[in-house]
Amino acid sequence: MEQGNFRAITLFLIGTWITWKVVTQFQKWRRRRAIITQHGCRAPPTPTERDPFGLKDIRESTEAYHSKTLLQRTCAQYDRYGKTYTSRFMTQKVIHTIEPENIKAVLSTNFYDYGVGWRRKHAFRPLLGGSLFQIDGHAWAKSRAVIQPAFSRARVNDVAAWEPIVESFLARVLDAASDKHTVDLAPHFFQLATDLASSFIRGKTTDKSKEIERREEEEFLEAMKEAGGGCEKRWQLGIFTVLFPMKDFFRQVAKVHKYMEKQVNDVLAIRDAADISKRRDFLASLTERTKDRKVLTDEACMLFVAAADTTGCLLTNLFFLLGRYEDVWRRLREEAAAFGSKRPTAQDLKKLKYHVNCIREALRVLPILPSNSREAYKDTVLPIGGGADGTSPVFVPAGSVVSFSIMAMQRRKDLWGEDAEEFRPERWEITQPGINWAYIPFMQGPRICLGNELAMLEAIYILMRMAKRFKRLDRIDQKPWMENVSVGTTSADGVKVVLVPDETYNLGVATL
Ligand code: HEM
Repeated sequence: MEQGNFRAITLFLIGTWITWKVVTQFQKWRRRRAIITQHGCRAPPTPTERDPFGLKDIRESTEAYHSKTLLQRTCAQYDRYGKTYTSRFMTQKVIHTIEPENIKAVLSTNFYDYGVGWRRKHAFRPLLGGSLFQIDGHAWAKSRAVIQPAFSRARVNDVAAWEPIVESFLARVLDAASDKHTVDLAPHFFQLATDLASSFIRGKTTDKSKEIERREEEEFLEAMKEAGGGCEKRWQLGIFTVLFPMKDFFRQVAKVHKYMEKQVNDVLAIRDAADISKRRDFLASLTERTKDRKVLTDEACMLFVAAADTTGCLLTNLFFLLGRYEDVWRRLREEAAAFGSKRPTAQDLKKLKYHVNCIREALRVLPILPSNSREAYKDTVLPIGGGADGTSPVFVPAGSVVSFSIMAMQRRKDLWGEDAEEFRPERWEITQPGINWAYIPFMQGPRICLGNELAMLEAIYILMRMAKRFKRLDRIDQKPWMENVSVGTTSADGVKVVLVPDETYNLGVATL
């Protein structure tokens, strides 16, 4: 080709591309103007507009994360800037909101306008692959329909299956508390949560008397902790992850996968050898729908992350709070004693109103996932938060993030009263008006936590057993709660308490 022709073609192509870009940008602008006008959208406050890439904000929140004051900072930001405001994370616009109406729009009304976003997908992909937690839209709906049967009522309400696990947990705690009645409950709660998750996922727990099994589980838990921390780091780093090879992180992920693959292979071997339909665990249920080892491994890892850490965090936070309130413990013991010594069913547990209220209240004051976010996959609108008075709708351009602090919303004084920061289970004795979307420890809408009923039942049962077994529960010191933010959020100082057993308690097998 002659040089002149080549230059002309190149100029023509560049010109066409520029024209196409200008036209599509103009069309996008017109489309967006139409949405803004149609809904009367106004911009929310942008207090950090002199920080166009959000670098100051990123630096301050990283510092707050390291000094364990991230949650405090998040709540303070809302106090300072209002219930809806915007900031930037590099090139991405972030709309922060603690308006229940907005959260309803994101999680339910306009559900398909949003997804979990590239940052979460990128951060957790090595560990959780393409599991339920990581996907959106129709792929997510299909996958959820496959997994949901594993959460059938019969499986979730199987209180008897937890009995040996809870018994050995109580024995460990009694043993630990035998020295001057002092114990840190946190490691025991995390071991208990691991056993409950294991039992739900693969139908059995690790036999602690077998050295090899015990060591394998310990290594798995250690690797899972490191891998979870690595995912958090990838989340913080975003696109800059490419600058860090994170070799150790990938080694830990490989260890986690190897352990889970072994569990999957065991289930598949049983499936091949015998009728597995009598088994009630998650993996057995899932193998009725797929035998793909990668899918089974990813989903089992996802479920372990979703179930074990969260339940451990909930119990730790709950007992941290309970250790400060003698009266609450006394009321719990009265309710547990009134139930008698028969083995409870799931229905019985749900009727222990004061137990339920204590757990609800702990999840309100100290939610396990204190904040969450979604990325807008198309241009959309939030119903409220725009303009100086925060009452106009807000335009949400595709690609921006809506971030919501569950903790700040669940402590709003205008919604929960002047004592919103206080742990007061009695507040649940009268119906909380209009709290539907202002109380979302398990989220809400189509993507609500699949294990919420199971998590609540397990917590009620453990609380009841502890209330029966120990006549006193007092915190050793009155230090304020200090955050430890990871996959779930829990007390950084554990739960160091004085636990005094009730000598009148009958440890017979038939009595609880
Ligand atoms: C106190 C305990 C728990 C809390 C606070 C909790 C909270 C949550 C939250 C907030 C989500 C939504 C995450 C999001 O969409 O961004 C979620 C999702 C999920 N949870 Fe839980 N969870 C708990 C226990 C459990 C347990 C015990 C299981 C299973 C045995 C479980 C299984 C799941 C699953 C499978 C999802 C993904 C649902 C989906 O994306 O469709 N969770 N959980």
